[in-house]
Amino acid sequence: MCGITGYIGMNDAKEVLLKGLEKLEYRGYDSAGIAVRNEDGIHIFKEKGRIADLRAEVDRDVVASVGIGHTRWATHGVPSKSNAHPHQSTSGRFTIVHNGVIENYSLLKQEFLNDIAFESDTDTEVIVQLIEKFSRDGLDAEAAFIKTLKLLIGSYAIAMLDTETPDTIFVAKNKSPLLVGVGDDFNVVASDAMAMIQVTDSFVELMDKEIVIVKKDSIVLKNLQGTIINRKPYVAEIDASDIEKGTYPHYMLKEIDEQPLVMRKIIQAYQDKQGNLEVAADITAAVREADRIYIVACGTSYHAGLVGKQFIETMAKVPVEVHVASEFVYNMPLLSEKPLFIFISQSGETADSRAVLVKIKEMGYKALTITNVPGSTLSREADYTLLLHAGPEIAVASTKAYTAQIAVLAILANVTAQSKAIKLNFDLIQELGIVANAMEVLCDSKEEFEKIASQYLPFTRNCFFIGRSLDYFVCLEGALKLKEISYIQAEGFAGGELKHGTIALIEEGTPVIALATQENVNWSIRGNVKEVAARGANPCIISMNGLDTDEDRFVLPEVHELLTPLISVVPLQLIAYYASIHRGCDVDKPRNLAKSVTVE
Ligand code: F6R
Repeated sequence: MCGITGYIGMNDAKEVLLKGLEKLEYRGYDSAGIAVRNEDGIHIFKEKGRIADLRAEVDRDVVASVGIGHTRWATHGVPSKSNAHPHQSTSGRFTIVHNGVIENYSLLKQEFLNDIAFESDTDTEVIVQLIEKFSRDGLDAEAAFIKTLKLLIGSYAIAMLDTETPDTIFVAKNKSPLLVGVGDDFNVVASDAMAMIQVTDSFVELMDKEIVIVKKDSIVLKNLQGTIINRKPYVAEIDASDIEKGTYPHYMLKEIDEQPLVMRKIIQAYQDKQGNLEVAADITAAVREADRIYIVACGTSYHAGLVGKQFIETMAKVPVEVHVASEFVYNMPLLSEKPLFIFISQSGETADSRAVLVKIKEMGYKALTITNVPGSTLSREADYTLLLHAGPEIAVASTKAYTAQIAVLAILANVTAQSKAIKLNFDLIQELGIVANAMEVLCDSKEEFEKIASQYLPFTRNCFFIGRSLDYFVCLEGALKLKEISYIQAEGFAGGELKHGTIALIEEGTPVIALATQENVNWSIRGNVKEVAARGANPCIISMNGLDTDEDRFVLPEVHELLTPLISVVPLQLIAYYASIHRGCDVDKPRNLAKSVTVE
């Protein structure tokens, strides 16, 4: 994971770097650092902890117009000041920041750097020491940089300063995301556009195994053979206000509240001029013609995939399997004759999903990526892309991207059904409109969910979520939300499965949140609630209007039965949010996590 920034121009680099890192903090936040260069040399500031801790550490009197920065999610070496980036070569000539993992770093160390005393436990330090070694052997900075890159196996986004090539940032990319932002009399680099949108909206995309020589008034792209590449900048349509919290105390709350708007944006984005749902014809053809669809995703996106399977099978009548990406490469199922792969990924950068994409592309199969980030790696490398139109999701816990994924999967299933002349007895545009209104009602009922969180969850060790059918999938998501931001041990279970073991965990007062939105299983899930209540559990039933009883804690506004996951998840998101607040946790940046998981 990790995020990197770089700036070269007329202004004080420190502030641009720190502001950029603040925007990238979602990529990792266990330590951070910047290096800036002025006439006195290189000044490095590093700190364990958040960007705010780094900011407090930075010497305000150091003014420099070039620098690089890093926010870290530890892979090699514990979070500490010495492992924080930037890292310097022994002589201090080269300073780098790196996002990614160098898989062969210990072999390189053994082969080339036996005589070097390393200052950190990171794989990154090997890169900077190698560059120095090759420059000592007589290569100039660029040649030493390229020679080193050619030896690296793994992923990297790198920005480097060289004391002997002033006013230049050397940049390289392989697998890890990196963009160059183009300005007037300045240029910036960062792991994503959001970190630069405050200063420019014009970006140059980098492909794998490319380097860029960045100066304040020029950028020169090359491949590792040294051939210059001409690539025009593109203008990104990101509204800088999308990435601000505004009056909200946390991004997560803002993003939960944005869900009705996101539903409406999706309806608009996937409508043709006649007001009918529309998905690019080649995508519907790919889904229609597949004999089996393999959905591959991680975490919350995987949970959306489970719901998507029901949509595609129910509406479009194409069989679907859903797989956790990190297992797929090793436990690959027997594939059908004509498979289509669908990758669901908010960030479009998740390494586990990308590993599967690379593998199935090598096998000659077609892939569709459903992502929130246009131009992301998974989008670029797949044959087709469907966008979520959810706007930047900053909180580490995914909320609006999950509901957007489900809505887009519903649209894909619906449009494919239409293209197969399968008659559906509902109008999805209308039903999604009803969902958006229902979400609004739920967002306006926050006090209720705050009360539920304070009544059921303030001191509990664990919590169970139970549901059947579609509700079961939402329970998996509700449990993930609760555990990642409140650190309560939470598990989602199929209601019928409890008695096969898990019920042994139910004790006096154990909170059990049950979803009851599906008519055909309404009485059986209520039976499961009785079973846990009889063993001392403290049940909290969230049901659908029309299926409710007097014992229910909250009744959801009615929506089409297939679309219930879009609204039943909202209370679970809000309950997790308030549980996190009550427990004094860091809602937007929970411990040990990062937003974009770019390591396998
Ligand atoms: C949980 C969460 C993660 C992500 C997972 C996949 O709230 O956000 O479980 O869903 O890391 O990320 P993407 O969707 O970016 O591939």
